[in-house]
Amino acid sequence: MPLYTLLRPLIFALDAESAHRLTINLLKLRSGTGFTPEPRWTPSLRTRVAGLDFPNPVGLAAGFDKNGEVVEPMLGLGFGFVEVGTLTPRPQRGNDRPRLFRLTEDRAVINRMGFNNRGQQAALKRLKRGTRRAVQLTNPGILGVNIGANKDSSDRIGDYVEGVRAMSGVADYLTVNISSPNTPGLRALQDQGALDALLDAIKGTRVANGPPVFLKVAPDLQKSDPERIVRAALDHRIDAIIISNTTISRPALKSARAREQGGLSGEPLRALALDALRQFRSASGGGIPLIGCGGIATADDAWERIRAGASLIQLYSAMVYEGPGIARSIIQGLADKLKKAGLGSIAEAVGTG
Ligand SMILES: Cc1cc2nc3c(=O)[nH]c(=O)nc-3n(C[C@H](O)[C@H](O)[C@H](O)COP(=O)(O)O)c2cc1C
Repeated sequence: MPLYTLLRPLIFALDAESAHRLTINLLKLRSGTGFTPEPRWTPSLRTRVAGLDFPNPVGLAAGFDKNGEVVEPMLGLGFGFVEVGTLTPRPQRGNDRPRLFRLTEDRAVINRMGFNNRGQQAALKRLKRGTRRAVQLTNPGILGVNIGANKDSSDRIGDYVEGVRAMSGVADYLTVNISSPNTPGLRALQDQGALDALLDAIKGTRVANGPPVFLKVAPDLQKSDPERIVRAALDHRIDAIIISNTTISRPALKSARAREQGGLSGEPLRALALDALRQFRSASGGGIPLIGCGGIATADDAWERIRAGASLIQLYSAMVYEGPGIARSIIQGLADKLKKAGLGSIAEAVGTG
């Protein structure tokens, strides 16, 4: 029986946020010098996206490791890439607790964390002195850094510019997160004028040889959004679009916690995020790499997302229910699917569905 199956009743006996903290602390125990990453990836899953070489296309989505504390252990568990953050320029407490809820009957999560994090400077120090180099020898994963704006900032665009400046030196890629529902007004940065101003400012801040920049969008879209956002991304040399963050909508849910305010993720987000991805694929025609995220829990889900146009996929909520072994099982499943389809690489499967 997998270790997580044994631990899960204990972890679920705690409130969701305490369980998350405990999990991070347990994972940190694995990040010392004694930690040996498991040999894990299959050569056929290696894939090049936005100029970066990913050992496999399965990533850990932002929000699990907000402060960049467990990058190496998560890569060691099989993830091809780990996105830390969201990190804001200044440390921030986030919203009052409780602010994280398991919806067990729905295999879903609602969160209204509100960008609680220790700030970019603290993360920068940790990521610089981390054991990443030692691990990299056998475990060449990719590190993404997701940046956002402080809630009380009077210049939100300035916060993103600061994030690009501060974090470019340690990140393999940066993600501009304008899709969290838990910082009032943040999602308005997806609107036409604001998005152009933001992406202009970011473009002006990037330096030659700096990391690629991804844009993370919400799944709650107006009909014209995909085309408009793809155009803005291409105009401003954004390197990939992550679809999607959590939803503020509430598909039919069974759990008592269904009415909690915040962003919904996990299984009930799957169809919505897949549909949003398809809309972006049809708007972009393959002109910009897309990263599928939202409700992915199995190799079937990951494969469906890749065939719908995703070059990479990310997950978070399914790990709450399945445990961190989920990365490995999706990777193995994907390798089998490639073989059955007679394809030599993930890139050949992208957008074929
Ligand atoms: C507790 C929690 C915290 C999150 N925090 C962030 C965050 O700080 N920044 C971000 O871009 N996305 C954040 N997300 C969204 C995830 O990265 C992901 O986009 C979303 O949960 C959908 O994927 P999933 O269904 O696999 O969880 C968070 C999600 C959860 C559940």
